[in-house]
Amino acid sequence: MLLNDFLMKGNIVLLGYMGSGKSAVGKVLAEKSNLNFIDLDDYIEQKERKKISAIFLEKGEIYFRKLETKYLKELINAKSNLILSLGGGTPCFGDNMQLVNSSENTFSIYLQTSIKELTARLYSEREKRPLIAHTKTKDELSEFIAKHLFERSAYYNKAKYVLKTDVKGISEIADEILNLEIT
Ligand code: S3P
Repeated sequence: MLLNDFLMKGNIVLLGYMGSGKSAVGKVLAEKSNLNFIDLDDYIEQKERKKISAIFLEKGEIYFRKLETKYLKELINAKSNLILSLGGGTPCFGDNMQLVNSSENTFSIYLQTSIKELTARLYSEREKRPLIAHTKTKDELSEFIAKHLFERSAYYNKAKYVLKTDVKGISEIADEILNLEIT
């Protein structure tokens, strides 16, 4: 079955490091398949009426991770026919990946992007992102991403499909996803 057909009853969950294109690809996928798109970070901000950066600053990361799991559960359990993009850290905390993969109606995809490409994309916008805002130079950012990605890869690789995104455009990635053969 093509993933496009699976979408009649299921959800696609996109995961990957910050800057891997989860939200951009999710939006285009939703347009192409006529489904709803939800970005978990945006959903948390709407529900909490607060920016993610403010939640980190005022309440700390652990508090944020609890909220993240709560809203992930809410979305996975309640909705189908949804394209959902997770936050970069969502798969790596609690039982989030188990939750995502245990739902028969959910197909998870890891958007895998190289350290070089992530560094280039994230450097100019790192102030907005609490976990990388402390890095000062491109080399420092690249080193941080390398270590962080090394720790996180084991979780990301639990996705049902791994899609390499370097040198591909957003629309091309979305088409590749919709044409995936799934069993
Ligand atoms: C985080 C990634 C962010 C956001 C938060 C923490 C992470 O999401 O959830 O700042 O731990 O990697 P994006 O990957 O959508 O930027």
